[in-house]
Amino acid sequence: MAAVNVFTSINRIIQGRGAIAQLADEVCRFKARNILIVTDSGLVGTPIPSMVKSLLKDYAVDIYSAVEPDPSVETINACAAYVREYKFDLLIGLGGGSPIDTAKCASVLALNPGSAEDYLGIEKIESAGIPKILIPTTAGTGSEVTNVAVMSLKAAHTKKGIVSRYLFAEAAILDPELTQGLPPAVTASTGMDALTHAIEAYVSRFAQPLTDHFALEAIRLIGRSLRTAVYNGQNIDAREAMLTGSMYAGLAFGSAATGMVHGLAMPLGGQFNIAHGIANAVMLPHVMRHNLVSSLDRYREVAIALGERVEHLSVRQGAERAISAVEALSADIGIPAYLDDLSRSGQGWNE
Ligand SMILES: [Fe+2]
Repeated sequence: MAAVNVFTSINRIIQGRGAIAQLADEVCRFKARNILIVTDSGLVGTPIPSMVKSLLKDYAVDIYSAVEPDPSVETINACAAYVREYKFDLLIGLGGGSPIDTAKCASVLALNPGSAEDYLGIEKIESAGIPKILIPTTAGTGSEVTNVAVMSLKAAHTKKGIVSRYLFAEAAILDPELTQGLPPAVTASTGMDALTHAIEAYVSRFAQPLTDHFALEAIRLIGRSLRTAVYNGQNIDAREAMLTGSMYAGLAFGSAATGMVHGLAMPLGGQFNIAHGIANAVMLPHVMRHNLVSSLDRYREVAIALGERVEHLSVRQGAERAISAVEALSADIGIPAYLDDLSRSGQGWNE
């Protein structure tokens, strides 16, 4: 662990059942008149976008839903062009990581020249964008609290990201009631993405006390709630724990970074269209096994956070329990163990 640590995060999080009712008050903090809700093609078929729009009766509000899963650079640039053309002055990112990342990028591209690919990498954006409020409807990416946006580069068959302080939203609103309708398979894959963020942040070389705090609590929340959220999606306690867990995981990896699982999931998504959370879930136990000896104590803590009893085991045996606990969780929620299984299962793990 480094002697000096830097922790950065979003500075305003509104959280709890019914929190969406605070949206108008949040919008009121800005002098916005012309608001764009950025969502995706799946969510726009549900009542959620119109419900959110109905909360903003005093404003001109448009809905933009041309965002696909794992949005391409072209999709992000098209959304930014729409924002520039119609001079929106506040964006609401509503949905999973795809519309949220699209809204984050479009907000900065509205006031910076060029296109998204000009800013791939770290801190290349020179000035702030228009304000953005982010409202997740999945419990996975944690993108609502991070300064990262990921996009697909179709020609290169991979994904890349923009990291910038200007991608932090002005506020995030986390309302677990908005996640109750999420289908089981999406709950499973996004939940394993969040768990991967937390575990990778906890064993990261850049881990620090603050990221450890959020990472371990995220692992606890996700470990005890994901099965229930998958099999009983209406269980609001499980949904709330998952949404909090994924947000905590976002706060952890936002400063501690992710690791090899995400390094492998990016090309698996870009090359083979495997859903991000599934690619993570499949790779996670294998990468943990590979990395285990580098952090036996920390993997033992992961096992404890996942509810394993390790007090009568050696440190190494305790650490190994973290791997078996992750494998059991993945299996319980129906995620295949190997890449081969993805192509054989035919269950639509690819996006
Ligand atoms: Fe991820």
